[in-house]
Amino acid sequence: QAALPKGHTIRPLSSEDYEKGFLDVLTVLTTVGDMSKAQFLERFYYLKAHNHEYFTLVIVSPEDRIIGAGTIFIERKFIHNNGLVGHIEDIAVDKNQQGKKLGLRIIQALKHIGAKTGCYKVILDCSEENVPFYEKCGFTRKEHEMVWYI
Ligand code: ACO
Repeated sequence: QAALPKGHTIRPLSSEDYEKGFLDVLTVLTTVGDMSKAQFLERFYYLKAHNHEYFTLVIVSPEDRIIGAGTIFIERKFIHNNGLVGHIEDIAVDKNQQGKKLGLRIIQALKHIGAKTGCYKVILDCSEENVPFYEKCGFTRKEHEMVWYI
């Protein structure tokens, strides 16, 4: 397992993380929007009430700022004997902190949650550019991603 740099921690998302820059970290992925604390908490408490299905982890710097984040969502299937599938989503590392194995550490922790929860596989969608990163994290290519935007 990749060790975190000194003074850094990895832990579940907390209701205080709005002030610690959680949404800023997500802007490396896409538009987050101008979210109020109330909107953040609305989503946070929904996910907390479903914490058998949603696990969001964050990496915290020694200065108590959020510098990395990632989520695994556990899907419940009928096939594979009511099998469980983990979906990794929204992996983000602050622009100034990339290349320090923080992304790898987040993925390792999310894979561990998927395995402990009883998933028979963990999957994700990513850009061509990120394929080498996920290969380093132990993933292999399979099939194609499709999308329908509303
Ligand atoms: N191309 C080639 N290799 C890469 C790349 C890349 N684009 N990115 C990382 N790697 C390699 C690293 O060199 C390292 O290799 P090494 O072990 O041989 O040294 C290994 O992958 C681990 O890299 P980390 O340092 O852990 O990567 P980082 O902390 O920078 O996180 C991430 C990678 C999450 C892709 C980050 O760059 C990021 O936030 N990018 C912008 C947002 C993004 O694209 N997120 C992923 C969207 S897909 C999804 O969420 C399911």
